[in-house]
Amino acid sequence: MLAERMTRVSASPTMKVAAEAEKLKRQGIDVVDFGAGEPDFPTPQPAKDAGKAAIDQNFTKYTAVGGTADLKQAICARYLADYGVTFTEAETLVTAGGKQALYNIAMVLLNRGDEVITHAPYWPTIPEQVKLADANPVIVHTKAEDGFKVHPETILDAITPRTKAVIINSPGNPTGAVISEQDLAAIADACAKRGIWVIVDLCYEKLIYDDVPHNLVKVLTDRMRERTLFACSASKAYSMTGWRCGWILGPKEVVSAANTLQGHSTSNVASISQRAAAQALTGSQEPVTQMLNEYRGRRDQLMEWFSVDPRFECVKPAGAFYLFPRITKVLESTGISSSAELSEVLLNEARVALTAGEGFDAPGFLRISYATSLDRLREGTTRILEFVKKRERQGAAAR
Ligand SMILES: Cc1ncc(COP(=O)(O)O)c(C=O)c1O
Repeated sequence: MLAERMTRVSASPTMKVAAEAEKLKRQGIDVVDFGAGEPDFPTPQPAKDAGKAAIDQNFTKYTAVGGTADLKQAICARYLADYGVTFTEAETLVTAGGKQALYNIAMVLLNRGDEVITHAPYWPTIPEQVKLADANPVIVHTKAEDGFKVHPETILDAITPRTKAVIINSPGNPTGAVISEQDLAAIADACAKRGIWVIVDLCYEKLIYDDVPHNLVKVLTDRMRERTLFACSASKAYSMTGWRCGWILGPKEVVSAANTLQGHSTSNVASISQRAAAQALTGSQEPVTQMLNEYRGRRDQLMEWFSVDPRFECVKPAGAFYLFPRITKVLESTGISSSAELSEVLLNEARVALTAGEGFDAPGFLRISYATSLDRLREGTTRILEFVKKRERQGAAAR
């Protein structure tokens, strides 16, 4: 009944968890939700006000498919201020979130049989979109032992004559790892020589905890501007997930093709959202700093709480808002067969929702989103640690 392409893709595991948790919550069950892939903060007030003003001023009609000139200029000004790189309106396309930015790129760039290299643990949409474009994802695995570092050699070793693009996500979901400028430069130099595109998912670009060099925009535009694309978003930086606003930055030929594609699919991002996003980008960036400080505090607290049980092996996330502990020792001591099973029993018995590593091509891990209050983090962590202890005792008694 369905098109053949749908046999190649699977539903988003993070969205599945959200739906299951929501179902339980609707039944009145107190679920601690560590599944969320979105900030728990409200959208900053000035952006909300800009959205309201847009409605009141009847700015509620179609806009240009690829976004208003105001928003495009706001995006270009932001990247010039943040990275010292100039983009023009013709190199900018406003999309319905980073997700559509990446989707448009996949659709306009990839042919059947092309290979696209990316790194795991990954955000599941990345390989699925490659498959939707009839191309083949090629996965390079990073390791918890060295902080999920993307080693350029492993990417370069995966290159074949069919390689069309490399997708880098930094800071990464689900690990929070950031790529170093040197490593990206090594990848860029090799890709530039071979005419391979480098696509960077910068969705979490504003959520980096330490003052580490992360000017990926400059690294790539200095080396291979004509083969570089950035997929970006207002969602995480400005707590604007529901507004659906992201953007592509890259060569105008690709931006123009993506504009044509978008013109026949979704058209423009909601006019109201565009006004709000323009405000977020041009206004004070203080709300971003405040949210980042709050996430940092939660990350540190969460690491401390989990440190009492060394079977939860945590790498300190350098960015984003997820802790991604390896839990193979928990599985050994409790007799639970997989991280998928552990996440299921945690939801059904301990009432904690989180995403199993399997969805990120990383069995043996759990993703814990700390985009929730410290109180809920404490409650959920206590439930997890107590549940594991209880299971261990039950296992020992049965043996
Ligand atoms: C790594 C990564 N890229 C892109 C996105 C897209 O987010 P949005 O479409 O809301 O901008 C997400 C959302 O979870 C993500 O985690």
